[in-house]
Amino acid sequence: MDRIHIRGGHVLKGRLPISGAKNAALTLLPCALLTDEPVTLRNLPRLADVDSFGHLLNQLGVSTMIEGARPEDFGRVMTLRAGRVTSTEAPYDIVRKMRASILVLGPLLARAGEATVSLPGGCAIGNRPIDLHLKALEAFGAVIEIAAGYVRASAPDGGLPGGTFTFPVVSVGATENAIMAAVLASGTCILHNAAREPEIVDLCNLLVAMGADIEGIGSDRITIHGKDRLHGATYSVMPDRIEAGSYACAAAITGGELELVGANAGDMQAILEALRETGVEVSASKTGIKIASNGKLRPLSLSTAPFPAFPTDMQAQFMAMLTLADGASVLTETIFENRYMHVPELARMGADISVNGRTAVVRGVERLTGAPVMATDLRASMSLILAGLAAEGETQVNRVYHLDRGYERLEEKLSAVGADIERVSDG
Ligand code: EPZ
Repeated sequence: MDRIHIRGGHVLKGRLPISGAKNAALTLLPCALLTDEPVTLRNLPRLADVDSFGHLLNQLGVSTMIEGARPEDFGRVMTLRAGRVTSTEAPYDIVRKMRASILVLGPLLARAGEATVSLPGGCAIGNRPIDLHLKALEAFGAVIEIAAGYVRASAPDGGLPGGTFTFPVVSVGATENAIMAAVLASGTCILHNAAREPEIVDLCNLLVAMGADIEGIGSDRITIHGKDRLHGATYSVMPDRIEAGSYACAAAITGGELELVGANAGDMQAILEALRETGVEVSASKTGIKIASNGKLRPLSLSTAPFPAFPTDMQAQFMAMLTLADGASVLTETIFENRYMHVPELARMGADISVNGRTAVVRGVERLTGAPVMATDLRASMSLILAGLAAEGETQVNRVYHLDRGYERLEEKLSAVGADIERVSDG
């Protein structure tokens, strides 16, 4: 297993390229199942999860071709083609490793009229049920049964008749699955209290480019008028707002100045507002967003919530940054029930954090000290990297396969702006 070694205390300065968004890519890739024509995705990030999703699609009969990726390029172009769907089953051994595999459920149901997908099971940050995915599909006319750890979904012969569903809880994945199932329905599907994350707007934009008829894109009320078929398209993945927010925290915690090239401020208002509240300077540049800090950070209180509020995927990174703030911050995690696993590891570096249920109080300390730490999930791993960048001495982050799921060539990007960071392979 690889480790990442960081010798902290270096101020980061320079231009840092932002890659395509992981959480957009993972819902754009299964759209290839919705047509027998080629779908080309540009700015696809080089991430373990994207590779895993490509392998899953191959097993379903989708051909995937990577075009012209030079080693030094960030991102890739991939053309996918589902001329024929040769399997409608997503097996347990794939789904358990990458829960986003559940996002083939809607497209398979739409294209092939059936799908058998393993229940994803929980993960480090929570038990993460898929009941809302299934209820939305049933509301559109799907027949759902669960047996032996698998979901079996089927549509009536003429395709999903359509219907209306109101989400009791905002769910990104369930909204995505429902939209992808609805675009080939024989009737109209309406979602209320739908998730409004930018990644869902990206999904809808690709589907419209493929010929889908969707109203209310970006709102919490989405109407999809089903079409008989969709055609191919070429589409560029949106920039990763969570990667950009993570590197903004790197500039803040090291007292540096970074230009996040390609970042879209429109997707990150709550993140940028929270950064400004800590005293970090945020400004638009011609090619992205400029973040500047003098290293003195004010504490703040924030609560995670669905978009457009402060995203849960940024909670761990902000916590790392706030361990060095001048005072006590209060963070409340409202989305997942177990998303504080970075706390004990940050504490081993000298952070002063107390957790009570969903709330964490982060009391600023003078300094952090480098230490060997263990990554537990994707965003927790990034919080340990951020702490290591500011800590005195060396930090070793173990189990960096978590990081490779969501951050493209992280050590290259950070080295290029002054970090003393290297990947060490146990092999
Ligand atoms: C997506 O996960 C993201 N993953 C997550 O990012 C992100 O944290 C999350 O949305 C929230 O923004 C991808 O897009 C691949 P949800 P998802 O359904 O769709 C409950 C990262 O670090 N729920 O919006 O699984 C659920 O338990 C990852 O990049 C149900 O109860 O999240 C949670 O409490 C981590 N029943 C809440 O809703 C369901 O059927 C929000 O989950 C579905 C969800």
